[in-house]
This record gives sequence, C-alpha cells and structure tokens, in this order.
Amino acid sequence: MILIIGTILCEGVSFGNTLEFSREVDVVMTMVISGLARTRFVGYFVAGILLAAFGSGLPATKAHAQAEKAPALVHVSLEKVTTSRPLPNGIEIRTAIGANAAIMQVTALRDDLLRVRVGAIGILPEDASWAVLESARTAKVAVKAESSPTTIGFSTTKLHLTIQRNPLAMTVTDLAGNVISQDIPEHPVEFHGADAKTIGFRVYKHSPEDEHYFGLGDKPGPLDRRNQAFTNWNTDAFGWQESTDPIYKSIPFVLTFRKGIAAGVFMDNTWRSSFDFNKELRDGYSFGSEGGPLEYYILYGPTPKDVIKAWAWLTGTTPLPPMWTLGYQQSRYSYYPEAEVRRVASRLRSEHIPADAIYLDIDYQLKNRPFTVDPAKFPHFDQMIDDLKAQHLHTILITDLHIANLPNQGYKPYDEGTAGDHFVHNPDGTVYTGEVWPGPAVFPDFTQKASRDWWGTLYEDFAKRGIAGFWNDMNEPALFKVSSKTMPDQTKHRIDEPGFAKRTANHLEIHNVFGMQNTRGTYEGLRKIAPDQRPFVLTRASYAGGQRYSATWTGDNSATWNHLRQTTPQLINLGLSGFGMVGADAGGFAGSPQPELLTKWLEIAAFHPIDRDHTSMGTFPQEPWENGTTQDLNLRRKFIEERYRLMSYLYTTAEEMSRTGIPIMRPLFVEFPNASKDGHPLDLNTNNEFLFGPDILVAPSPYPDQLDDYQAVLPPVGWYNYWTGERLATGVEGIRVGNDNVPDTDLQINLHPSVDSLPVFARGGSIIPIQPLVQSTMDKPSGPLTLRVYPPRHPGDSCEGSLYLDDGLSYAFQKGDYLRLKFTCELTPTGITVKVSPREGTFSPWWNQFQIEIYGATKPAASNSVTTSFDSEHHHFTALVPDDTKGMELTVTY
Ligand code: GLC
Repeated sequence: MILIIGTILCEGVSFGNTLEFSREVDVVMTMVISGLARTRFVGYFVAGILLAAFGSGLPATKAHAQAEKAPALVHVSLEKVTTSRPLPNGIEIRTAIGANAAIMQVTALRDDLLRVRVGAIGILPEDASWAVLESARTAKVAVKAESSPTTIGFSTTKLHLTIQRNPLAMTVTDLAGNVISQDIPEHPVEFHGADAKTIGFRVYKHSPEDEHYFGLGDKPGPLDRRNQAFTNWNTDAFGWQESTDPIYKSIPFVLTFRKGIAAGVFMDNTWRSSFDFNKELRDGYSFGSEGGPLEYYILYGPTPKDVIKAWAWLTGTTPLPPMWTLGYQQSRYSYYPEAEVRRVASRLRSEHIPADAIYLDIDYQLKNRPFTVDPAKFPHFDQMIDDLKAQHLHTILITDLHIANLPNQGYKPYDEGTAGDHFVHNPDGTVYTGEVWPGPAVFPDFTQKASRDWWGTLYEDFAKRGIAGFWNDMNEPALFKVSSKTMPDQTKHRIDEPGFAKRTANHLEIHNVFGMQNTRGTYEGLRKIAPDQRPFVLTRASYAGGQRYSATWTGDNSATWNHLRQTTPQLINLGLSGFGMVGADAGGFAGSPQPELLTKWLEIAAFHPIDRDHTSMGTFPQEPWENGTTQDLNLRRKFIEERYRLMSYLYTTAEEMSRTGIPIMRPLFVEFPNASKDGHPLDLNTNNEFLFGPDILVAPSPYPDQLDDYQAVLPPVGWYNYWTGERLATGVEGIRVGNDNVPDTDLQINLHPSVDSLPVFARGGSIIPIQPLVQSTMDKPSGPLTLRVYPPRHPGDSCEGSLYLDDGLSYAFQKGDYLRLKFTCELTPTGITVKVSPREGTFSPWWNQFQIEIYGATKPAASNSVTTSFDSEHHHFTALVPDDTKGMELTVTY
C-alpha cells in the first residue's frame, strides 16, 4: 500500500493528530502533530508534489484532475489488501499494517444488499444514518467466506463479492456472473483533504459503455445521467434551467441498468458530495464527498422493481397519502385577501373544475411570520377554512422554517424556541440569525430530537382549526442577501438524536439533511396532534429517505415549453429515488405561460402523481379558466375530470407505492425491462413517454411546442387507445426497435401533436377501474364501478388489475378497514372470461354493481348470464353485473 500524507499547517491552525506517512508498507513512519499553533506558514510535503515526485500511478486524467483540485494536502489511496478477517456477515480488510491503516468492511444486510464502510485511518465511520432505517442498517445475513491465492471475498445466496488482493479491487457479481459493481483496480478509493479532520474521498467504479444511470432526485437534464456530473448541495434555485445543478434536493442514490439487469448504489453521506458519470473517466463513474463518512450500499435487482423495493426496504416508503392529495390542487403566490380565496374556490366549483385543495402561500401571514395569520387580510380565517371545507376543498398552508427574530414581542414560536434553546447556533454559541421572508430570522436545530418535537407542537393550533396539509418551503435552508444563499459553513448544529453520538456538527455536515429533518418534525408532530389522520407535508428540500415524511415538487420552474418537457425525466428520477408523491408547478412558476402551454401542461399534469397549478407573484392569473379560450377551459377541465375518473386506479397505485416503493409515475423500463434486444432501457428510444401506474402509458410530444409528427415507441404487450378504446394494429405502421425476438407490437407509431389531444394508451392484458365523476374526493361517487378490460394479445397471456380503497383519510385501514379486489381475465376459444375476487377487508365501497367494459370488440357479445350492449364507436361492449361482495365471474362470447 502506498499511503502518502502531506499537510500544510497555516496561520492559526491548531490540532492534534496522529498521521501515518509512508511510501511502502514496510516503511511506516508515524508523525505526531500536536498542539501546533503557528503564526507562520509551516509546510510539510504537499501530496501533489509527492505524487509528481514518486509517481502516483494514477491514470493521467485523474492525476490531472487532482492537480487542478490542489492543494490536495492529505492523500490516502487504498491499493492492496494486507490483512483480512472474515465476519459472520461479511469481511473486513486492512490495507497496511498498524492501527492507522485504512480499514474496509463489506457486510451483507440481505442476500441482495451489501454495505461498504471505509475508514482512512483505522477507524470505521460512526454507525448512524439519517437516511437508512435502523432495522435495515442492523440487518444481517450469514455469508460463505471464499478465498484464493489472489482474492478474498464471500458469497450470499444471490451475490458473489470478490476482492482482488493486489491491486485492491472489489467486484460484485450475481450468481450468473453478471457484474453488478466493479472497482477500478489500483485506485478504487481515495481520500484527500486539507487535514485529517476534513478529509474527503472519491470512489471509482467501472462503467461499461452500455450501462445507464437513473435517480439522483430532482436534478434537471436528461433521464439517463450518463455523461454528466452532479453536485449534491441543497440550493434555492429560483428559475433553474435544464443545465442548473445543484437544485433543491440531495439524494445520492443511483439505479444502474445494463443488459436488462438493474442494480443500485447509495452513498450515505450528507456533506457536499458529487457524482461523475463518464466525464473524468470515459469508462468509469465515481462518487465522493468533501467530508464525512465513506459509506455506501450496493443493491441488486435483477429487475428494476427489485432494486426499487430494496431501496424502499433500506430507506422507507412514501406513506399512504390522504386520497384528497391526489385530487387537483389550486395554488398561487399568493391568494389573498380572504375574498380572493373565496372567489377562486367558488369559481372552481362554478366552472365544474374538480378540485380538492387550495394553497395559502406566504401572504396569509402577518409580515411573513410563520404560524401567524394576518387579521387584516383574513379577518374571518376560521370561517373561511370551514366554508372551504363545506365546498369540499382542503386548505394547505405554507409554514416555512425561518422563525422571525422577534424577542419580547409575544411571538410564540420565537419565545418558546428561545426558552427551549431550540435555534441553530453560531460557532461562538450565540444564536445564528439570517435574513429570509420575515426579515431577520432564527432557525430550529432540527438535528435535535427535542427541537423537532417542539417544532411539531407549533402545528397544533392550525391543525385544530381544520387545516388539512402543510407546505415546508425554503428549507435548503434558503437565506437572502448572502452569496452562498444559505447558512455559513461553520454554523453549529447540535446532534442529539437516538442512534447518533451526541455531538456538534457544522453546517457542512447538516446542510443536506436540514430540510428532511424539518419535514420529519412537521410530519411526526402532525401524527401526534391527530393520530388518526394521515398528514400531508409538501417539501422543497430533502435527502434520501425524506419520502417517509413528505411529498415534494420541483421548485421554481418556468412557464416554458422546455420546462414542461423537463417534467418527465425529473419526476421519473425523483420516483426512482424514493419520492413517488411528486409534481411540478403546472403552468410553470416563473413567468406566464401562453394559453396553449397552460392547456398542454394541465393535460399532462393530470397524469402526474401530484397535479398542482402554481405560479409566482406578479404573473398572470393561471387558474384553468384564465389565460385561454373556452376551448382551452374545456380541455383543461376534461383532463382534470379524467384524473378523477381514474382516482380508484391512482389511489390503488399510491397504495402499492406505500408498500413497495414502486412510484406512481414510472419509466417504461421499470415495467418492461426486457423490451429491447440488447437490454437497454426502452426509455432511451421513447422521448418523454411515461407510465402512469402500471397500465397507462402517456406519450406527450417530446418537443411539445413543435408541430411535426413524432413517434411513440410501445413495449411489446399490445396497446389500446385509451380515449377511443381501439386496439392498436400491431406491426402495421410500426418499425421494430431493438428486439427481433419479440413477435409484434414492439413498434413505433406516428402521432400528430395537437393542443386538443394527448396520446394515452392502455396496456393489453390490464383491467383498469374507472369511477363516476365527482367534483372532489369528498363527494361520494354514484353509480357502478366500471372495469375496463383490455384483453391480452394471446390466450394464456396475463391479464390482471386490482383495486384498493379505504376511507382515504384515517389509519383504519391498518385494522382491516379497507377493500382490496383482484381482477383477472382469460381469453377463451370463443371469447373471454372476466373474474373479480371476493372482497378482502371490511371497507364498504359506494357501488353495488360492476360495469364490465371489454375493449377491442368488433361486434356485440353474447352471455348466458347477463345482457350486454355494444358501443362500436368506443370498441367495447358492456355488461352490468351486480356486486354481491363474494366475487364474480363473467364469460362472454364474441
Ligand atoms: C418559493 C417557493 C414558491 C413559493 C414562494 C413564496 O419561491 O418555491 O413555490 O410560492 O417561495 O412562498
């Protein structure tokens, strides 16, 4: 092992450390530097100079990059295994002799999930995490140790880990030999930094040219992260553009996909960190951080759904949302005064725009002070909330984390926070103040459990007054009037938290989890205040695992066609990163959309997990009836109505997400990982298509402002036009993409873009529940539950669907008060048999009849048990069947 450490001690620096300094393992020299308070420059060796003098062996590009990053004053590179020790659940290795040698532990939490921890100087990082659930972090499976003269490692029932001894390089394969993760030999891990306390690291992995990368949260840009580099540092990015990085969230999780096999890598590090895909090294990707623990997890599929489920096991899922949050949400910065809120609410109803929520942005507050209401603008606040409720509208309030710095003015959040010493400190122990919406403000120290608990109690008053949801904004945290847009690096946070050592941490360590811990305080507070009501918290900033506490949106986008286009990759990557309850400001936040842009945006957003129209201060009105013709209004209404007809399907998908982590909005490769011959993700051909739940494919124009025809690529299962019910001809207009082995329908179809249509397709072999139209999820639908049956292509092909329902609000579902139905269909030689399972759970739904619609029909059907009607225009026939709760079977010939 070559371990080279140089350091420069600059004026005023004082520390004590034991550092190793050696060129070869057999020459270990220990330098003890202690109590040095220098008034003048004291120089030891600079690693860059050492590297140049002795030859680093680094690839030229890496050496060059390091020289540019100078001064890299501490440099530790793990190069060969010196000793190893098998563990019941993994392996531990050292890369030199002596207590200060680098140490690496790889353990198996599950047969398909490995944890890697590395310490530069003999000590593993603190065993604690904001992201990973305690139950997952402490899980263990037994492994089988394996070794050869040149390698050591272990196997689980799903994976092999092989560590080449010299040069050190770790490879993980599945049992079939597919490589899941592979170090770049000789320099798999490097540590570097200004001193041993602020040591950063970088991990280098091999990147085959056909490997693709997804995830990393809300970062703009193409769906595939390949050929790009990113920084994780939560940033208030008003008016961000496609090339802006970083923006609001830091989720250092990547789902990899190669030759039809998916895996995942999660770097659990909250400091400013980065990922580089193929920029520094064409055939490598790397991740690293400026400080903090070197700890990462390797997740194995083989399917994308397996990886998503493993990620959910590690960091949790989005809890089952209240059903109303899936309805249409109306917002702007800001609706005030009270009369304006009432006007918008009444207009939603008089225009028959189905809607469930209205937002009050910062102007409802007195001088932008969180947890206040401006009595001049809202003289009858409580009455207004009640009246909105009577109109079946839920109110969501913004409650930012910056507490106005108002000593001795009877401002409860400030007074209580000060009395409890809950605010973030400066390095000298005084309370940190910074300027945001209310002017000078102080900030709760969300890394102390007691402070989070206190923060949670601030919601009691609003919750009791009937506020249904809360919006935690500006929680990067955002600061005005400073170029960093956030707190100074050395601001002190006090970690006082079960599972963590009690200690202070500077803002560099806490910044990226601050927003997440803010939402945790809100969510957990609301759970205590109303234990039987599901909270709704919307956040702008977060970290990995933040989906346990909040939904999110993509922040301050712009009213441009390109931003509409950007919603697809951004929301999909958020979903793959764990955040499945996501939306973008429909219509765009900055600027005012052209009428057709607002219309098209509202059409597409009807198929997003969150459908919220929001815009900035000073823009044109952006409600569906504004800024357009009657035709625009009719179109906007039509799409929102369709969302409400699909509410049972959407809610069923949200419930699946709450159990498995599989997001509502999905890329095609999640459902169809083997759809292309060479195993590349089909989405690379599909230009902005996405799946809304498992069975509905939305194919907006990739360039929505252009008038040219475009092609949609459809996976090989057979598809139906969602609007007309027509079965798509297979292989007629189509050109095959990729897979010669797939018989038909792996096709491209020509589509003609227009403002009044959005191509949507239903999957062959699916059964989609549709409900009668309501104006709010609080309205009880009246009429039968429709089951749209889209028969599969061939007898024996799968055909299924499901429905989950409950009261939409409470936790009664956990005690069995829910309804679950499974639907199947089977082609028979002369027709089709449709089955509905007996009801599971005690919840009683609104219907007592099923309206079974069978699509793709060209002629009327016959049934010996029920009468059927035929709708040639919509290519289906219908049978009305009573639901006696015990299940149903219907066979028809046609
Ligand atoms: C931030 C939010 C935006 C909000 C505004 C005022 O810019 O991102 O959505 O409307 O603050 O609160």
